[in-house]
Amino acid sequence: MPNRLDLPAGFRWGAATAAYQIEGAVDEDGRGPSVWDTFSARPGAVRDGHTGAIACDHYHRYPEDIALMRDLGLDGYRFSIAWPRVLPTGAGKVNEAGLAFYDRLVDALLGAGITPLPTLFHWDLPQALEDAGGWLNRDTAHHFADYTAIVTDRLGDRVPTWITLNEPFVHTVFGYALGTHAPGRTLMFEALPAAHHQLLAHGLAATVLHERGLEVMLSNNLTPVWPASSSPEDAAAAEAYDALHNRLFTDPVLLGRYPDLSALGVPDDIYGAVHPGDLDLIHTPRLDGLGVNYYNPTRIAAPTSPGLPFDLVDIPEAPHTAFGWPVVPDGLRQLLAHLGKVYGEALPPITITENGCSVDESTTPDHPRIDFLATHLDALAEAIAEGADVRGYYTWSLLDNYEWAEGYHQRFGLVHVDFETQRRTPKASYAWYRELIVAHRARRGG
Ligand code: BGC
Ligand code: BGC
Repeated sequence: MPNRLDLPAGFRWGAATAAYQIEGAVDEDGRGPSVWDTFSARPGAVRDGHTGAIACDHYHRYPEDIALMRDLGLDGYRFSIAWPRVLPTGAGKVNEAGLAFYDRLVDALLGAGITPLPTLFHWDLPQALEDAGGWLNRDTAHHFADYTAIVTDRLGDRVPTWITLNEPFVHTVFGYALGTHAPGRTLMFEALPAAHHQLLAHGLAATVLHERGLEVMLSNNLTPVWPASSSPEDAAAAEAYDALHNRLFTDPVLLGRYPDLSALGVPDDIYGAVHPGDLDLIHTPRLDGLGVNYYNPTRIAAPTSPGLPFDLVDIPEAPHTAFGWPVVPDGLRQLLAHLGKVYGEALPPITITENGCSVDESTTPDHPRIDFLATHLDALAEAIAEGADVRGYYTWSLLDNYEWAEGYHQRFGLVHVDFETQRRTPKASYAWYRELIVAHRARRGG
């Protein structure tokens, strides 16, 4: 059986973060408010009322964080650009100080020998755009394309590859359908126009990026869907869930069409959001790489009560992370094999743009994280041996950070952050990852 040391030569080692989760400095240098500033201030929205106002103070401490990345031996660093730093109201006037921050960050990364892999949207929509309807408003897609042009005109000479969106599934479902994330809307399936407008934004931005000779990726949260039994009812429920979680966000981009959403009761034109020509705009700019964010499989059963066309059920036979998520490394292999089967020639090279787990702070050394990473990387080596084309792996996350509705309670970092003092302390998993990178390079070449 191949293992992590058999990952291909030239395989890219990375770590990932996102702007609102680490930067802090929400009122500095002209940054406008985002939906997460508004949402996290709402009583009861986030555990213990935590906000990202300070977070890891990365806005000021990025040199120290880049030194940690350099010592770790990373090839690449995935971070996100805060749209409201660049355009405080989402459109119109550009905030030079915001662009200048990312300029400094990119230069510092390059100076440390690390390739920047920016994501243009990781959920922190400018509040002014939310006030105009957010992702339910088609105009937001056009504003995103304009924002993409502004950012890449500034950084595109040094940054070759760009991720447009992070996990439109999670943003749509948690943000617009269930309301557990910003902007906190509870529209259930009527949230899906927000999904279409994000995909349209991806397509319009992809064209902007290609016009500048830059590469385009999209990072999707993908999950292998396991029917709870072999009954036709469970199989049908699993298919409906797969359409919603996986295919809705991948088929339009890779195949130029939406999956069948009828089991969800959603009309083909997604409540009028899909205009003639939209699928071409989404599909024609070819994706240069698919970003896969993998955390766990999802077990689905037929619904036991009216409402949703599926029930999510637990996976009791698997160990669980501190967050309560099942740990199933082979799910990553299954997922990659499944993507190959479903998309065939239409599937571009893959990069794992997130994978990791939260471990309780009192568990030191953080051996559960080392086990998680080791077993998932072994599963990845197996998937590659079976034919998957995977070019790199960005673990979530470099630092303990602001875990959205969980505030600072879930710790996903290779580096511990004391949120009182901002002191960074590398964990056992950091040392382990560094040794793995060294050993892999020694064996396969960098
Ligand atoms: C899912 C993860 C997903 C996360 C989003 C969880 O419920 O199990 O796969 O990444 O939500 O925050
Ligand atoms: C998101 C990250 C998040 C991580 C753990 C992903 O859904 O992209 O922002 O912190 O999972 O929940």
